Amino acid sequence: MKILLTGATGFVGRHLALFLREKGCEVRALARDPKKAEPLKSAGCEIHTGDIRKPETLIDAVKGVDAICHLAALIRARSYREFMETNSIGAKNLVDAALSHGTHIRRFIYVSSISAQGASPSGAPRDEKLPPAPLYDYGKSKLAGEKWIIDAKEKLHVGILRPPIIYSPESAEVRKIAKMASLGFIPILGDGKTRISIIHVHDCVRAIYCLLEKDYPSGTIFPVDDGSVHTLDEFMSAFVPPGKKRVLKLRIPIPIAWLLGLVAEVIARLSNQTPQFTRSRALLARKANFICGHAKLTELTGFKPEIKLRDRYLNRLNTDPVNLSQ
Ligand SMILES: NC(=O)c1ccc[n+]([C@@H]2O[C@H](COP(=O)([O-])OP(=O)(O)OC[C@H]3O[C@@H](n4cnc5c(N)ncnc54)[C@H](OP(=O)(O)O)[C@@H]3O)[C@@H](O)[C@H]2O)c1
Repeated sequence: MKILLTGATGFVGRHLALFLREKGCEVRALARDPKKAEPLKSAGCEIHTGDIRKPETLIDAVKGVDAICHLAALIRARSYREFMETNSIGAKNLVDAALSHGTHIRRFIYVSSISAQGASPSGAPRDEKLPPAPLYDYGKSKLAGEKWIIDAKEKLHVGILRPPIIYSPESAEVRKIAKMASLGFIPILGDGKTRISIIHVHDCVRAIYCLLEKDYPSGTIFPVDDGSVHTLDEFMSAFVPPGKKRVLKLRIPIPIAWLLGLVAEVIARLSNQTPQFTRSRALLARKANFICGHAKLTELTGFKPEIKLRDRYLNRLNTDPVNLSQ
């Protein structure tokens, strides 16, 4: 199977590219910067230079592939418009290219996000029958991206995955938490009791692979998680290096976090950078539940998550608490 993978230079995309190669797939990685994609080339991927905001760069990218895994997205942006240009219009451009020039395409997988559906009103996964209530600009743009994919479901076989937080020892977010923990503190937004779903990147790429391989009705949306509900506190605390006894949990009240978000946004605007922390992100902790489950994915594809927050992941930290970047 030959697969066009967008977002291949990103955190999840890198893992997926290697997983697909291990499964014997040919991978064409779409990359804005071919230099950044050099390690993928060494792993046997074909590199195609392109940008999902530029439709003309996608025509040759879709030719001759059997499937598309669309992961390219902005997780942080300077404005709503910037989110929409990549996460919504970018998805539309790729669907259009697939419909016009992708004569062999039998699967189109879109990696969306739990943010597109919104928070759950109770401690259970959000009921699918509830209309989506996307969270802030990122969630709105991911939901808008989903709509282009669903619109094409009669012409292309499409599947949508909605993961929650995706983590692994080497992800940038986890490295940040682990670094702060090694300095003796971890910041926890609000009271830390917000209930969340999470998934290890290994299981996330396995779920994507299930959507490539298995049969299910075109246009199905699949939430996915590790099978447990966690609290924000529990998640952050899992990254305290073993042996580090005294770690202060620095609880940041939401109004203070909101102010910090405002300051970060102003500084980013003045320096024309993308803010690393925002008011929206601070306000997420006001919601009690971000829970998704994976029942439909198991029922239709047989998927079962393999990695729990406290098992294999922590074993790896135990053996190598410092070198998290490997
Ligand atoms: N990480 C999570 O916790 C999480 C949770 C739920 C859903 N997701 C979804 O999972 C997917 C992958 O996330 P990630 O964490 O791997 O993100 P990431 O590390 O930020 O990677 C994003 C990727 O998208 C590419 N990209 C951005 N704009 C592009 C454009 N205009 N044209 C072509 N490529 C572009 C980036 O390329 P460059 O290298 O050139 O910047 C990069 O390869 C995204 O769709 C995200 O919404 C992520």
